[in-house]
Amino acid sequence: MALEVGAVGFGFYDLRAVEKEGPIKGRIRLWLQGERAMGLSALAVRMVEAGAGFVAEAAGVGRGVVGKTRERAKPRELGSSGEDSREMAAGECKGAGEAKQAVVAMFVGGGDGPISGPGLPREEKIRLLSAMDEKEVKGCRKCGLSESRTHTVFGEGDREAEIFFIGEGPGESEDLSGRPFVGRAGQKLDEMIAAMGLRRDEVFIANIVKCRPPGNRAPAPEETGACTGYLVRQLEIVRPKVIVTLGLPAARYITKLELSMGRMRGEWHTWRGIKVMPTYHPSYILRNYSMEIRKAVWSDLQKVMAELGLKGKRV
Ligand code: URA
Ligand code: SF4
Repeated sequence: MALEVGAVGFGFYDLRAVEKEGPIKGRIRLWLQGERAMGLSALAVRMVEAGAGFVAEAAGVGRGVVGKTRERAKPRELGSSGEDSREMAAGECKGAGEAKQAVVAMFVGGGDGPISGPGLPREEKIRLLSAMDEKEVKGCRKCGLSESRTHTVFGEGDREAEIFFIGEGPGESEDLSGRPFVGRAGQKLDEMIAAMGLRRDEVFIANIVKCRPPGNRAPAPEETGACTGYLVRQLEIVRPKVIVTLGLPAARYITKLELSMGRMRGEWHTWRGIKVMPTYHPSYILRNYSMEIRKAVWSDLQKVMAELGLKGKRV
């Protein structure tokens, strides 16, 4: 028997309910919960009876067993890598823990379609982001930048942030501290955030590459290629309303346009359904402290504020 539903959200809730209430009632209740909590009505999922449990199939994602709750398999950590999470969703998962992981994978891992809705519950976002940092990024050796770094710089901020700033890569102070934008450019970014009427801990801040390019050179294409999978997953988890790219490498990576900053900034672009505003990098503002550049950045930030209904600095 195959039951088609428009959305699915059973992954984060008590799968044992399915057994207690009976499969049909349980499935419908959990589906409604998912839709309410996560706005997932856009995700078409087919649930198909399969032996003792049932499997969920999502377009382009594959299948994950979602009904077998008796086996107490230890959940494998999701977030080990994009490939792994897709594999897990595509493969046979045993037990409630892994079934849950498979469903989480459907929402946060893989694909390049639009991201819509509020996404995962806050605790799940926190768990996935810290797992990615602790288990993958901190020990990452996927590119040569790992050899010269002191610390990786994962990024930080509010997991529910409406604005996600993307810089280029850690500089010296960030490499030493392990935190993004804490040097001079960071002070300028703090001023920009304050001018928008926000605190730094109300936005999310990350970079294209998580390790410092020696001498603050721009990251090389193979380094960006190796690292941006982490950034993409951060964006998929946080699901901001607006992405603000700082500087050319971030703007070009996100918009996929090879244009100059002058051509890209000040206009809305989109990344997987999320609005994108490219603007100058705070270091560029510091190096070219002209009225023209400052006016341009403020005008870009005002567009973001208008989009989000922000009133600006409280004076
Ligand atoms: N410049 C960046 O692009 N990122 C940082 O984290 C610091 C400086
Ligand atoms: Fe890994 Fe990114 Fe650091 Fe390269 S820059 S080693 S890909 S974390």
